Amino acid sequence: MTNTNITPNYRCPLCQQSLIFADRTFRCKNNHSFDQAKEGYVNLLPVQHKHSKDPGDNKAMVNARRAFLDKGFYQPLVDRITALYQKYGADNGNVFDAGCGEGFYTHQHKLANNKVYGVDIAKNAVKMAAKRYQACHFSVATLSQLPFEDKLFNWIFSVYAPILEQEFTRLLADEGYLLTVTPAENHLFELKSLIYRQANKHDTDKSPINALKLVTEERLNYAMEFNHSDDIINLLAMTPFAFKTTDQLLTDLKNKIQFNCQADFLIRLYRK
Ligand SMILES: C[S@@+](CC[C@H](N)C(=O)[O-])C[C@H]1O[C@@H](n2cnc3c(N)ncnc32)[C@H](O)[C@@H]1O
Ligand SMILES: [Zn+2]
Repeated sequence: MTNTNITPNYRCPLCQQSLIFADRTFRCKNNHSFDQAKEGYVNLLPVQHKHSKDPGDNKAMVNARRAFLDKGFYQPLVDRITALYQKYGADNGNVFDAGCGEGFYTHQHKLANNKVYGVDIAKNAVKMAAKRYQACHFSVATLSQLPFEDKLFNWIFSVYAPILEQEFTRLLADEGYLLTVTPAENHLFELKSLIYRQANKHDTDKSPINALKLVTEERLNYAMEFNHSDDIINLLAMTPFAFKTTDQLLTDLKNKIQFNCQADFLIRLYRK
């Protein structure tokens, strides 16, 4: 018998029909099939939806992000977004982490009676997520053509990932919520100041969403204190600043015994 709580609901990325799961394979009625990987995730990104060989964050970025997040530097953000989920979200619905990376925020939304999904285009990230967080459903897919039925989710969230308004709105149940986390003005300002002669502050004027009602908007700002250069180097490696890194900067960072840097997040909650 199929356990509906553990069987994920996907639709075929090629013909949009429902996918039925049997013998470790997801198959639609037109016989398109997608095997479950041994880690438990499924790759629902057809080659024709792929714009490069290895799309999304690369392995070095994903590894650096996992090492950094595991140290708890963004725990205040996790605490805040899960508190909002507990306040506004139903505990028995479907939750979707859009651009889930290696699953750090995804699994923190898992409750006894909900189903939690994470999608990312980076296969390495999804593989790591599925291996560690087996109670959630992970798939490789693109946010611009998501493999889900309309209105499947009561709660969609996005942390520092591309926000696709039209797709997210399609997937949101009536009266469902969308939570976005984007950088606030001073996010990582001290780190940026090491890289750029004149570091610009983040521009936060433009709302990423227009079709939904804004319920709350809040800023979370705190100081992170680093006592190990490895942590600063991981932080650098998990951001787009990684591409600006020079040998000189790495040497300077390795010699830093102490470094303080702001985390500054803008958390917006919308309702359909
Ligand atoms: C900055 S990371 C954030 C990851 C995770 N939300 C976190 O905060 O740890 C952005 C993520 O979005 C993914 N991404 C970028 N474009 C995407 C797309 N078109 N479809 C799916 N994922 C995408 C990247 O692979 C990457 O894992
Ligand atoms: Zn199909």
